[in-house]
Amino acid sequence: MTDATPAATLVKKAIRHPMRSIRRLVENAWLASLNETKERDLSMKFLEEAFDIDVEEIVDQYHHSGIAAWMDRRHAQLRDFQGPYRLGHTPRFDCETLYFLVRSLKPNVVVETGVCYGVSSAYILDALRQNGRGNLYSIDLGNTEDEPPNDFFVPLNVRDRWQLIVGDCKEELPRLLEQLERIDLFHHDSLHTYDHMMWEYETAFPHLGEHGVLSSHDVRTIVSLSNPFQQPFATFCERHGLHSVKSRNMGIAIQQKHADSQHRTFPQHSGLYIACLAAEASFTYDPIVR
Ligand SMILES: C[S@@+](CC[C@H](N)C(=O)[O-])C[C@H]1O[C@@H](n2cnc3c(N)ncnc32)[C@H](O)[C@@H]1O
Repeated sequence: MTDATPAATLVKKAIRHPMRSIRRLVENAWLASLNETKERDLSMKFLEEAFDIDVEEIVDQYHHSGIAAWMDRRHAQLRDFQGPYRLGHTPRFDCETLYFLVRSLKPNVVVETGVCYGVSSAYILDALRQNGRGNLYSIDLGNTEDEPPNDFFVPLNVRDRWQLIVGDCKEELPRLLEQLERIDLFHHDSLHTYDHMMWEYETAFPHLGEHGVLSSHDVRTIVSLSNPFQQPFATFCERHGLHSVKSRNMGIAIQQKHADSQHRTFPQHSGLYIACLAAEASFTYDPIVR
């Protein structure tokens, strides 16, 4: 099981974008210093308390789902891709956290921003398939003709639950949320700047009901080299008094009053959860020309 990037690809990227590479190195060192068992336990305990789930059953079903083997095969095919492709997909550990969140919450309506080649989308969709309900709406700027498509990692048997919207979140997200009115889960993984992340969280927040969840990738990403301590996810949760957890580079948040009062009686179809899953470290995704 690996989603490792070939060393030659990383060297080419470092030559083209030295500052970005330094930031990535710092971040990766920080993330690597985290104890994965502890990080996993944190998110599973959070989900267990919020959703009254049988963690072991969900983990067991994940291992039998076949999604990890599928992703391994597609990662191998991406590495052999004869053309440019970008780095920045959600790492396996964080995808699993997202998968466990969707299995626990059992949402009907999920919105995510940031698709790239569809890694996080595939995990969300496979979790919805296992739940037997729910649809995913994903927004991305779109890919160039010479790189892999947005659905490269998305298995055929889960695409019936998926609507991909190609466009800028700044236009498409408010429009989509207005159409859907209420959503159960919002997941951010598009542009990782302080202003954009805060804007997405604030835009999605009113559409999550009392029991909705907001998730974000890149909650531990350095979003500004000039101000490395800016943490949009933590700031947002504090501003709105949300109950949250960070697990590696992924964050999940729910309303405090829900966390206090409803641990064991969560109604599955309504509400505000904020889960923030944030992807590995990049503001922009420049093609690597191979
Ligand atoms: C970190 S990648 C997403 C990774 C993806 N979630 C995965 O797991 O593979 C970020 C994506 O956000 C998209 N993006 C960046 N800014 C955007 C914007 N303003 N509107 C829509 N998509 C955007 C980029 O095109 C890129 O594909």
